[in-house]
Amino acid sequence: MSLEQFQSELEALRTEAADAFSAAADAAALETARVEFLGAKSGRLKAVQKQLGKVPKEDKPAAGKSFNEAKGQIEAAFAAAEERLSSSGTDQDDAAPFDLTLPGPRLPLGHVHPLTQTIEELKDLMGRLGFTVATGPEIEDEWHNFEALNIPASHPARDPLENFYLSTAGVVAGKEGAPLLLRSQTSTVQIRVMESMPPPVRIISLGRVYRPDTADATHYPMFQQIEGLLVDRHATMADLKSVLRLFASSFLGGDVHIRFRPSFFPFTEPSVEVDMSWHDDQGNLRWIEMGGAGMVDPNVLGAVGYDPEEVTGFAFGLGVERVCARRHNVTDIREFYRNDVRFLHQF
Ligand code: PHE
Repeated sequence: MSLEQFQSELEALRTEAADAFSAAADAAALETARVEFLGAKSGRLKAVQKQLGKVPKEDKPAAGKSFNEAKGQIEAAFAAAEERLSSSGTDQDDAAPFDLTLPGPRLPLGHVHPLTQTIEELKDLMGRLGFTVATGPEIEDEWHNFEALNIPASHPARDPLENFYLSTAGVVAGKEGAPLLLRSQTSTVQIRVMESMPPPVRIISLGRVYRPDTADATHYPMFQQIEGLLVDRHATMADLKSVLRLFASSFLGGDVHIRFRPSFFPFTEPSVEVDMSWHDDQGNLRWIEMGGAGMVDPNVLGAVGYDPEEVTGFAFGLGVERVCARRHNVTDIREFYRNDVRFLHQF
């Protein structure tokens, strides 16, 4: 092998190695290239070095010098590639220029809870039917929660095990020892409104009520009710049904039906349970109980100083969670109180 041949082989290897090192996109690729060219046992530079023996004796010094130069250059190219890879990512000059016109990241926005959305919608809907919103306290006395609602002391609904009585009774009330409780129904607001104004009355009241129930798919120890009360000269059961039908079809959709089942509440006579219909996944008609309703009992009208001979009224109390769950196809009302944002974000 002539000196020229040896040198041109060296030169070819040098450019090939330099190209391979600078093309390596990551550390693994660079290592592969290193082994190929600089590998101690079977690297290609080693192979060229072995050719040195075939160069004529008088050319050996020159060939050796060329070899050492090429080796130095190949090692330098490797070191440069190594340096480039280890500094990439921190090298500001290589980073994409910051584009001020790009839209910024979207900040997560707050979200109205589905029950709150339902409450707002129900206020709107009943507002269009002429019902104004009334409120009452969640801590109640026995007069508003029971007595005035025709629920006498002997009634099982007043059992301490059926209610959340407060041990601070009397202190909060300011009245001598009168027991207080977390209201078990929004019907308390019926009494408060009628005590405060003469008929006609047309109100709704939305709010929390408390019962020591075990939580399951349709019960929760604290839940929300929408109470409705209309008192006027000629209010009838037919009016009650019309209002509830409108309520149901407006909130749940046009094809919803309602049905009354005879029931009993001390403060209404006659009393009914209100069911609303829906179609399940198989298309079957199903019914779900939404709450109670009825014609205001004359005793209640009398308790607030109205004349039961002059006016009649109807009242209803529906579970907001149930209405909301039906609307959104939620099968377990406990979801509303777990406050898992993955659940809440769907509404
Ligand atoms: N207060 C009753 C309940 O909580 C519901 C109801 C309201 C029934 C108004 C009749 C009239 O179960």
